Parts: sequence; structure tokens; C-alpha cells
Amino acid sequence: MSLTAYVKEIKARAIFDSRGDKTIEVEVRVDGGIGVASVPSGKSRSLKECEPYPKGGVEEALSVVRSVIAPRIRGLDVSRFGAIDSELSEIDGSTRFERIGGNTALATSVATAKAVATSRGVPLYRYLSEELSADVRLPLPLGNILGGGKHAGSGAPDFQEFLVIPLNCKSIHEALEANMIAHKALGSLLSLSVPGYALGRGDEGAYAPPLDNVESLEVVKAAVDLVERERGVKLGIGLDIAGSNLYDPRRRLYSLRSQGLYLSREDYLAFISELADEYNLVYIEDPVWEEDWESFVDLTRSLKRTLVCGDDLLATRAELIGEYSKRGAIKAAIIKPNQVGTLSLTWAAVKASLSNDIVPVSSHRSGETDDAFISHIAVGTGCKVLKAGVVGGERVVKANELLRIAETEADRGSPATIWELHL
Ligand code: PGA
Ligand code: ZN
Repeated sequence: MSLTAYVKEIKARAIFDSRGDKTIEVEVRVDGGIGVASVPSGKSRSLKECEPYPKGGVEEALSVVRSVIAPRIRGLDVSRFGAIDSELSEIDGSTRFERIGGNTALATSVATAKAVATSRGVPLYRYLSEELSADVRLPLPLGNILGGGKHAGSGAPDFQEFLVIPLNCKSIHEALEANMIAHKALGSLLSLSVPGYALGRGDEGAYAPPLDNVESLEVVKAAVDLVERERGVKLGIGLDIAGSNLYDPRRRLYSLRSQGLYLSREDYLAFISELADEYNLVYIEDPVWEEDWESFVDLTRSLKRTLVCGDDLLATRAELIGEYSKRGAIKAAIIKPNQVGTLSLTWAAVKASLSNDIVPVSSHRSGETDDAFISHIAVGTGCKVLKAGVVGGERVVKANELLRIAETEADRGSPATIWELHL
């Protein structure tokens, strides 16, 4: 094992993501190792996250790697965690990677970490856990089985994601399988109960039926009950409401079009609280729009058994996670590496969560690639939950990577346990 790792070569290419859009893949070679990483893109984005690319899009990002990043990092020792990241921040010069783009930075950051890991003969999650002194445990898989909002066409529910999370599984295999079975059970229930619905799905593989929010929760509950009856697995129900997409700041109303409801903040919060009680919601992400942190506080206070989670509110920024956890606005934080642009900034966000007793949720984006680095981040940094969808090739690669990681740990003689949620 070599302790130094000098960059020998860096290449970038355009590949396609799960929506058929172009994205960047970066390949980094160090002595004794090679790493390849590709990055996703979001459709329901926070105002506070990095722009993914420079003005000229993916093509300009490729030339930035060739002509700006490569000459600066060739010959650099990147073995220490974060060495490449501080170099990238310096090259860019802004706080949000405005010059080179957050996706350009992240693909370079992750490809470099993978290259260093292979030069040491270890997988990425092991490199991360060793460098960061994090416990190696397996995350609980949180996956959407039904959805609407910006990830589906018109007629689907307003809420973006209806999620399930296994609460009593002993193995990661059993936990992932429970989510897959819930997805299948939901498909059967929808084909019986929604005439004419051809089981179309949204961007993340979740069913997108012509139902309103409450009807959707009803059928999700029926699917979850079925899994519990047949498999004995208890699945909690969660929502990612993506509240920013429902709020009309001019009229100060939340629009729930599928139900013909246009609600004031007070009525909307009462509606969400009723749903949380009625369906025992264990998780609600972005219940309100991203500027309304006071409503996050109200819900976190009143919904004692629900993890109120910030995504657009926080944009994976350590300082916002610290600030809003101190104000009592959140109990969980979405960790999306491309919102901030490097592994170091991602780790800062996870650390800020853990030190404030906030559950970090390593998360995919709606436009994904076949790269499973978020699974490694989850295991290697101590994220208790992995939100990576349920079905669809680009989602399943994240699940399957957890199975491989679990096997690797068992083979080393130190089987990894799954995190638990204390609600
Ligand atoms: P995005 O949304 O990846 O489309 O931005 C996902 C989410 O809101 O969690
Ligand atoms: Zn979200």
C-alpha cells in the first residue's frame, strides 16, 4: 500500500443520465490506482445549491477539466482526504463553484477519492471511514414507491414522493427486499383499483397514478400493510413533499391542485399534521417551501414521532444544518453531494448533522447515473439512511452496492450492522 498518490492523468467525458440528459464523468489516475465517477442532476432544486455546470453546460465543463483542472492537479499528492477538494475550491475561487460548476467539481472529487482508494487496495467506503474515523454500518434504505410533483406528468399527486423505510429488518438484504416487495404490491393494488392506469412511472421509478395526495397515501398504506401481513416486515411511510414547488409566494398559498385545495400556511400545516397522525408518517422531507424555516420548527415541535427532514432548506450546507438544528427546525438532513460540489463539503454536512443529533440521509437525485458512490458515502461517513429509490437500473445499482459492501464486511470477519431509527 502506497501512502502517497500523485495524480498522473485526468480525463473527462460526457455520458447520459437516467433522463437521457448529458452529464459529466471524470477519470483520474494516480500511481497504482484509477477512479471513475459520474454525477447526477436534480429537477426539484434548491435556490441555495451549486449550479451544476458553467454557462456552456457539460461541454464547457469538459474543457474546464482539460484546460483548467488538469494542469493544476497533475503531479499533486491527493492521498490525504480533502487534498483535491481544497485545490478545486482554489481553482474555482467562488463559494459555490460558479466558475467550474458543482458537478465538475464533484466528479473530480469522487473520481480522485476512488483512485486513491484503489491505490490502497480498499473500496471507497473503507477509504472514507478510515480517513474520517467513521463507524462502518449499513444505512436503512428509504425508497419512493409512488410519486408526483415535478418528477411526473400532470394528473399525478402534488406531493413529490411517497416513501417506505423498513423498521425491523436484521439484514440489509431483507430490508432492500421489503422495499422491492412494497413496490410490487403497490403496482398490483394500483392496477386493481385505478381503471385505465397503465402503471406509468415518474423520473425515479415510482408509480405516478392519477390520484390525489390522500388517495395515494391510502393505497401506499394498503401496500405496506400487505408486506407486513405477508412478510412480517414493518415498513414506515414517509413523504418528500418538495414544498417549494407547492407554494405560491405572491398569493401566500399552498396549491394542492389534485385536491382542488389552496391553503393558507396555517391550514396547510394543519392538513400535514393530520396526515402525519393518520398515516403514522415516520419521515417528512421539505414539508414547506425552503424559506419558511419557522414552519419547519412548528412541525418538528408538534410531530414528535416524525423525522422532519430538510433538503431544499439546507442544500447540504454544514452551516445551515448547524443553524437550523439549533433552532429546532429539523431532525434529519438530506445529503446530496452535488448540491455542494466536493466530498469534503459533503463530509462537513454529515459531521454537522451527527454532532447535532440530526439523522443524515445520503441521497440520490432524480436524474441519476450508474455510479453508486452515494452508497459508499452512506456507509463510509455514517449516514443512517440511504434514499436511493427502489427500482430502475440507476436506483438498483445503489441497492446492489450495499449488498456487496455487506458481503465484503462479513468476509473481513466484521459483519456490519444496520442503523436503527429512534423515533
Ligand atoms: P431532484 O429532487 O433530484 O429532482 O432535485 C429530489 C428530491 O427533492 O429529493
Ligand atoms: Zn427532496
